[in-house]
Amino acid sequence: MSSLTVVILAAGQGTRMRSSLPKVLHPLAGKPLINHVTDLARSLTPKKIIIVYGHGGEQLQAALANQTDLVWAKQQEQLGTGDAVRAAMDEVKTARCLVLNADVPLLSEETVQRLVTRVDNDSVGVLTADVANPYGYGRIVRDSAKQVKQIIEEKDATDLQKKIVEINSGVFIFPIDFLKDNINKLENNNNQKEYYLTDLVEKALEQAVNVNAVKAKDPIEIEGVNTRVQLAKLERCYQDKKAQQLMLAGVYLADPSRLDIRGDVTIGQDTGVDINVVLAGNVAIGKNCIIEPGVIIKNSKIADNVHIKAYSVIENSEIARDAEVGPFARLRPETKLQEKARIGNFVEVKKSTIGVASKANHLSYIGDSIVGAGVNIGAGAITCNYDGVNKHQTIINDKAFVGSNCVLVAPIEVGVNAMIGAGSTVSRHVPEDQLTVARTKQKSFNWQRPEKNEIG
Ligand code: UD1
Ligand code: CA
Repeated sequence: MSSLTVVILAAGQGTRMRSSLPKVLHPLAGKPLINHVTDLARSLTPKKIIIVYGHGGEQLQAALANQTDLVWAKQQEQLGTGDAVRAAMDEVKTARCLVLNADVPLLSEETVQRLVTRVDNDSVGVLTADVANPYGYGRIVRDSAKQVKQIIEEKDATDLQKKIVEINSGVFIFPIDFLKDNINKLENNNNQKEYYLTDLVEKALEQAVNVNAVKAKDPIEIEGVNTRVQLAKLERCYQDKKAQQLMLAGVYLADPSRLDIRGDVTIGQDTGVDINVVLAGNVAIGKNCIIEPGVIIKNSKIADNVHIKAYSVIENSEIARDAEVGPFARLRPETKLQEKARIGNFVEVKKSTIGVASKANHLSYIGDSIVGAGVNIGAGAITCNYDGVNKHQTIINDKAFVGSNCVLVAPIEVGVNAMIGAGSTVSRHVPEDQLTVARTKQKSFNWQRPEKNEIG
């Protein structure tokens, strides 16, 4: 569809959000509203995507700096949607121009595709919807032959027109010649003293240019965000849809209304997800897994038959099949758990690989480490990976046994099948097959307990 330019209107103030953050940067499903719209625009493979921004647009440009394909057009003053499109006109060079609003995040690719393909190249197209409560929206006025005649704004509508339930979504497609000829002819003689893009409908009809309305199947798709209340509503709709998709794909959800998906998530068949789980970024979870309540997983890959127990937090990690994590475990970035590994309660792992069937079941910190297979790390044992300046590596070879409350001062290597006595602080190579103890000998003395004196 390289004959298409997409113009995204984002110059509005969004004052009703009552926030110092521009409205279109508020997140829905963990992603700024405007990113939902730029992603949609990109899915249409247009020639160009233009963002119309206004006062304070620097914050917007900074937030979208990594989207280097965007073209920015400044609207000097917010004089209305018609004026906003005019601000982008110099950059529009393709045969057709699609207008989207930056604050309408749930619009689907399928619906926009329908508008683009159903409306022919020489006609004006508008996406509409029948809604239960049309208040505030522009109404689609049709004549007796059901032909679209006009779009009238709430503030300009008669009482009779206000009863119309078919509304303008604000999404339009225009033939470029028509748009160039007419965008400068709009007038602002209306209630809001704004240049309305919607007035192009009447201009088209005057010039015998066809106007086609395409209806969205689900009106939620065209709802915009003006307040935090509306944002919360759309967030829920989005989450419901995601939860339904997962359930239809064979995932057990204890309560679909208590799962939050903030990214691209796949979950295998017969995996069960309990309540209050948050999945963010790119998350792939295999089949037959159990995800207990309160688990947070970000940008991670989890194989089949993995059990993540309650309130564990997992970020940028990879977990192989049959592994067990938690409850209350924390896997920080670059953690790899191999098959059947077990990371138990109050254990933190960072940038480490835990080998096949190795265990750290209680109260440990394992950082910058390579742990072999069949290793047991006792309760409270930790790696000292940081000397205050640099990070150092710990290597614990296969079948080693690290006693409870040991301190492994890195860089250090523990040999195969080594045993380190509980409470040892080791800072040198720990030989294989031997018992290493590094702590003072236990001594006992006769002594008198102090007694409480009268004055104190
Ligand atoms: C507009 C439509 C209305 C439609 C509704 C759908 C007009 C005149 N009215 O109304 O028919 O039902 O959208 O949500 O078009 N913007 C600018 N510059 C401006 C004004 C607005 O960039 O000067 C941007 C806003 O940031 C927003 C979009 O245009 O993304 C729509 O503006 P908004 O003020 O929300 O339009 P509505 O009054 O809701
Ligand atoms: Ca407005």
